[in-house]
This record gives sequence, structure tokens and C-alpha cells, in this order.
Amino acid sequence: MKLAPAHRIRGRISLPGDKSISHRAALIASLAEGPSEISNFSTARDCASTLACLRDLGVAIEARNGKLFFAGGQKLRTPDEPLDCGNSGSTMRILAGVLAGHDVAAELIGDESLSSRPMRRIIEPLELMGAKIESTDGRPPLKIRGAFEPKPITYQLPVASAQVKSAILFAGLNAAGRTTVNETSPSRDHTERLFNGFGVPVETSADLSVTLNGPARLSSGSIMIPGDVSSAAFFIAAAMLLPQSDLVIEGVGLNPTRAAFVNVFRSWGADILQTDLQTEHNEPVGTVTVRGGIGQTATTTDRILSGSLIPSLIDELPLLAVVGTQIEGGMEIRDAAELRHKESDRLATTAKNLRAMGAEVEELPDGLRVFGPTELHGALIDSHGDHRIAMAFSVAALVAQGESEIRGAEAAAVSFPEFFELLHTLTER
Ligand code: S3P
Repeated sequence: MKLAPAHRIRGRISLPGDKSISHRAALIASLAEGPSEISNFSTARDCASTLACLRDLGVAIEARNGKLFFAGGQKLRTPDEPLDCGNSGSTMRILAGVLAGHDVAAELIGDESLSSRPMRRIIEPLELMGAKIESTDGRPPLKIRGAFEPKPITYQLPVASAQVKSAILFAGLNAAGRTTVNETSPSRDHTERLFNGFGVPVETSADLSVTLNGPARLSSGSIMIPGDVSSAAFFIAAAMLLPQSDLVIEGVGLNPTRAAFVNVFRSWGADILQTDLQTEHNEPVGTVTVRGGIGQTATTTDRILSGSLIPSLIDELPLLAVVGTQIEGGMEIRDAAELRHKESDRLATTAKNLRAMGAEVEELPDGLRVFGPTELHGALIDSHGDHRIAMAFSVAALVAQGESEIRGAEAAAVSFPEFFELLHTLTER
């Protein structure tokens, strides 16, 4: 994919449903006691993997008039073939939690990237709950034998991970007693919000513990998924970096455990407004308006992203590093070694691609130091098959001098199949 520099971004859009919420909503609608429907379900390839796995587990799902209809009230059945999670860590880890709490057996497989990702983080708590899980040295494929009578646990997460938290909560639905997960930093809380909306109360406390009381049956319901804020992030960044841009994104999810990057961009001088704020199905939703150009520059502390802020920025960190090249004083990411275990080693792939474009960047064991402002030049970019790297560097290509080529741009479809088409529509050259 070749990309030329752009003059500005202009338009009014809404986006397909949030990927993280869609995975969870599909799992919940599958387990619910009666029929449910989901509108604005994510178009991400990852979410299609979740639906395919659920169908293989015997769940009846029908797509009609742009909505998904789930029969509900069904028992999961042991599938004949391995369940293919594709590139999707959320599918494998959260579905493992669902299976761990049911009397079924299944093998979970994934593509090359997913097959190299760490799974001990879910194996350990799910085995404590009574499941039996075989892996290849802590990596996929996973052979899971669900617990006949899962045990409730209290579990301290060793790494901040919403996927692990969610896996334990899904397994906890069928465990008799209190299942509690303690976090050290707040991670995305979509599972908690959805469980509450589907009739299973989840208590959250100020000391970052979440608890549910099992066994608990999810009620049926209908839900409209908010636009994906992580997809919006790419257009928001492009609009702030290109002066005279004027972008409006309607109906986008603004959950604080996801939209923290908006505050970071603002602290870096971006003109971003959030209006029409509402709560839909327990999730904050609103309109985001971006006027191009960077105003007053940030203080030194605003330019260092670290500590408990990291989980709520986790998927936007490569993009924040790209934007950091254009900020007075640059930026720094710390406490983010988890980025090495994503769809690619995102610290390495971000540093390598930034350097290819002429940026000055230091790779740290747990982060990046990005110097700025630097003029970027067009370059050959390698996505390493990672959707967020492909899209973050498409934004970089728009603000660079000269043409860039994104190798492996098709990876964008993992979370956002419409990305390049929409980018094309919004871009003025
Ligand atoms: C996700 C959680 C995060 C995130 C991923 C989606 C989720 O992963 O990076 O893209 O849907 O729960 P971790 O739980 O590994 O931090």
C-alpha cells in the first residue's frame, strides 16, 4: 500500500462497533438464558473468529439486517475440530475462560503470531478453578477440559490484563461462590459493565478488585455496540497533526479505560472536544470533534507515559509514539514491557519503523524514548503482520515528506477492514 503525504483530514463519520466490547457481547449473548440481539457488531476479523468459534461450539447465531441474533438458552457442545482463534488474543484468552467453566473439551489454535503469545497467564488461574489445560510450553495450541464444577477463586493478576481478568470472570459465572480478581492498575472494564447490564452484578471496589457471585445466569438482552475508539484514534491523530483538519466522529465509545489517549493528545496541545455524552448499555458514548494543529506544548510530566496509565493506553502506544515525533520535547513510554507480547513486539516494530522514517528513538526494555519534533520522510514500512502498526504508520505517512509504502497493510483488517477506504475518503491532498 502506497501512501502520499496529506494536506488535511475532513469529514463526519461513525465507526463500526468496538472490537473488545463485540467479543464480550457475543460470548454473553451465547451464554444468556434466552434470545439476544447485537447491533453495530464489530467488522474486525478478530470478532469474526470469535463468532466462528462460538458456532463450532453449537451456538445458533444469525446475521440479519445488519444485526446479530443469538438463540440463547443453549448448552455448549464439544466441537469436532479445533477452534481457530486466528490472530485474536481476546478470542483465545476469554473463550478459554468460558470453556474452563463448562463441561466441554476443546482445542484452541491460532495463526503464527497468536501461537507465539503467552498463555500461562490464563492457564494458571483457570487451572486453579478446576480446568485442565495443555499447552506447548505456555503457548498455543491450548487443549482445554472444562471443569465439571468450577471452583471460585481470589486471584491477584501478575500483569495488568483485561483479557485475563475477563477469562476468570467468565469462568466464575459457573463457580459456586465469590470469584474475585485483584488488579494493580485499572484495565478495560467492558466485561464488568456488560455483566451488570445482562443481570449479573459485578462489585468493583476502590482497591481495584472485581467480584461476582456464582453460579449466575446471564439474562438475554439487546445491545448496540459503540463505535471503536481505538479505530477512531488513528483518524484523531491524523487530524490533530494536519493543520486545518476538521473531523467529527459520532457515536464513539468513550470509556475512560480506553479513551485515555484523548487526554494525552489534549495535554500535547490538540484541539479535541467531546460532546453529546451519553451512557448506552452502561458504556459512555459521545461525539469527538478534532480541529487540526497543535497548540501550546506539554509539560515534561505530560510527555512521560508510565505506571498505572499504561493499561488504558495499551493499544494506542505505537500511535502515541508516532505523534510524539511531532511534539516539542518528544515523549517517553515506560512500564510497557507488555507491548513486546502483542500481535508483534510493538516496542521493536515501532522503533524500527520510526527510525526508517528519520525519527530519533531509543528502545528501552519497557518502553521508548522518542525525540521531537522531527521531520519524518516517506519510507518502506513493515507492519510485521500487526494491524495497529500498519495503521499507526499510515498516520505517520500522511505527515511525512514524500511517499511511503506500508508492507503488510492488509493486516489492518484484523481490527478495522474499512480503514484505508475511510482514510482515503477523509484525506485531502
Ligand atoms: C483486550 C485487552 C488488551 C488489549 C487487546 C484487547 C481486551 O490486552 O491489548 O487489544 O479486549 O480485553 P491485554 O489484556 O493482554 O492487556
